[in-house]
Amino acid sequence: MCGIIGVVGSSDTLDTLLEGLTRLEYRGYDSAGVALVRQGQTWRARTAEGTESVSALKEECKKAPRGFTSGIGHTRWATHGAPEAVNAHPHLDCSGHVAIIHNGIIENHAEIRAELEARGHLFSSRTDSEVLAHLVEEARGGGAELMEAVRVSLLTVRGAFAVAAMDATEPDVIVAARRISPLVVGTAPGVTYLASDIPAILDRATAFYAVNDDEIVRMGPEGFRAIDLEGAPVRLKQLTIDWDLETAEKGGFDDFMSKEIAEQPDAIRATLLDRRRKDGTITFDELRVSDDELRDVKRVVLVAAGTSHHAALVAKYAIERWARLGVDVDIASEYRYRDPIVEVGTLVIGVSQSGETIDTIQAAREARRRGARVVAISNIVDSSLARESDAVIYTRAGLEVSVASTKAFVAQVAALELLALRLAQLRQTLSPSDVDALFLGLSHVSAQVAQVLARGADVDDVAKQLLGARDFFFLGRHVGFPTALEGALKLKELSYLHAEGYPAGELKHGPLALIEPGVVVVAVATDPAMHEKLLSNLAEVKARGATVVAVATDDDEKIEAVADYVLRVPVTEPMFTPMIDIVPLQLFAYAMARGLGKNVDRPRNLAKTVTVE
Ligand code: G6P
Repeated sequence: MCGIIGVVGSSDTLDTLLEGLTRLEYRGYDSAGVALVRQGQTWRARTAEGTESVSALKEECKKAPRGFTSGIGHTRWATHGAPEAVNAHPHLDCSGHVAIIHNGIIENHAEIRAELEARGHLFSSRTDSEVLAHLVEEARGGGAELMEAVRVSLLTVRGAFAVAAMDATEPDVIVAARRISPLVVGTAPGVTYLASDIPAILDRATAFYAVNDDEIVRMGPEGFRAIDLEGAPVRLKQLTIDWDLETAEKGGFDDFMSKEIAEQPDAIRATLLDRRRKDGTITFDELRVSDDELRDVKRVVLVAAGTSHHAALVAKYAIERWARLGVDVDIASEYRYRDPIVEVGTLVIGVSQSGETIDTIQAAREARRRGARVVAISNIVDSSLARESDAVIYTRAGLEVSVASTKAFVAQVAALELLALRLAQLRQTLSPSDVDALFLGLSHVSAQVAQVLARGADVDDVAKQLLGARDFFFLGRHVGFPTALEGALKLKELSYLHAEGYPAGELKHGPLALIEPGVVVVAVATDPAMHEKLLSNLAEVKARGATVVAVATDDDEKIEAVADYVLRVPVTEPMFTPMIDIVPLQLFAYAMARGLGKNVDRPRNLAKTVTVE
């Protein structure tokens, strides 16, 4: 989730780049860099100082020669290769003339790199991105202009990219392209800009244009032209931007929460990228635990807090079902002080969006002290939890600003389910074709989430009807239970209404006594195996006067009989439903909170990251 910026034809190139990079700070970064290019000369500076990277870069840039009118800049959010200066962008080719910046993941980078190295290219970083510089170099060597060289290069890469390339032998040109990762072009008289996010160039450009997937743009001081991957000309759509900087940082949304909810398809897609080799092996580049160690795991313990705890609960169902391993899920603050038993072969998985939650870090420390291998699932590269664990799997949800976690949750579930599939492969508890089918199903979830988001207006209508309600029970069975817990958490933290998540089967053991007219029961009713039983539970609450809202699949014809309101979702493999079913519940909590006039990004009394016990 890097930030990128470029400018061509500017009289204050460096200031434009550095200001833009500062504006991209909300994306989070671990390193930063710029390259300035003019005829026959490339000047580059890169820093890896964590959150101080852009400040350090500003210092470095005081040494830059004057008079460059074009350049590119990058803030990095590491995926491949540690957050060190050598891995910071821009990357150069062997000649030092071609400079590129990249946001995204090149899935087949290892194969491409091996081929390029065999042809004599020398690499200086561990990133997936550097292959692009060498691919462009080769195409340029064959005589192609920069735009054609970028086009040809992109034909060989799989994955996601927003990329910008320059070449000192064709100065005053930037060629940029995108697939999945965001990219906009901006213009002003005599100057053309590119950026991953509008805030980076908001006060410089006067007109903005959207670049679509698989489009390539050639920018010069005079403006730009665009082609598709086949080389056919395309027109970029002009965007109407009447935003101030704050709105721009929210991508035009009213708040970070709605922006982050909308980003969920991308969060899932990015988390799955590059995780499956051609031979079907599920793979985690950054996981430093050997296959043998994973094969020898006897028991899994997940520790986490808040929303991450709910993602961990989903993982219990997936790991037990697919890998046939016993799994315990613990609230991190409970695990730590419980004198936990850590036997040989215990794998502890610490799940934390921030990687800085004190209880989760301490639980992981305690587990390691007792001899467990600890794997972190973290959204922040090099977070404390990631650094202190034996291994790490990164979710790639991008910076999450809203206190109530949304996109991090779906990315955590995706990452944990991938890990469950890997364990199943190693333990041979699923056949290769089962793993393939499940991976394929997982790859469709992102599009299904997008489908649910498109139905947001239905959720708003239901929320409007229920604005006066004060008591909510969220019910679910199987993985619908953690989804119910998460749905209840969203509602209570955002709207300050009483909301409880319960396993539907436990209803008769207490909560049923609280059901009376005025109480709302929200049911996660998408699991076919549990459907009949859940329908009976809903009939029971309905008979006692509750208003029933059900999340149900498109093909469910029976639900209307027991539900007052139905929120429809597409059918998917039951294990994947938490990533889909949580979306209407997030939207419901959001709509209720907005309807009640609450601050959705900053609920009272809560913090994004809890670093005290
Ligand atoms: C706080 C946040 C939640 C988050 C929880 C765990 O309570 O408000 O959104 O789920 O901490 O945070 P972590 O960063 O460890 O996932």
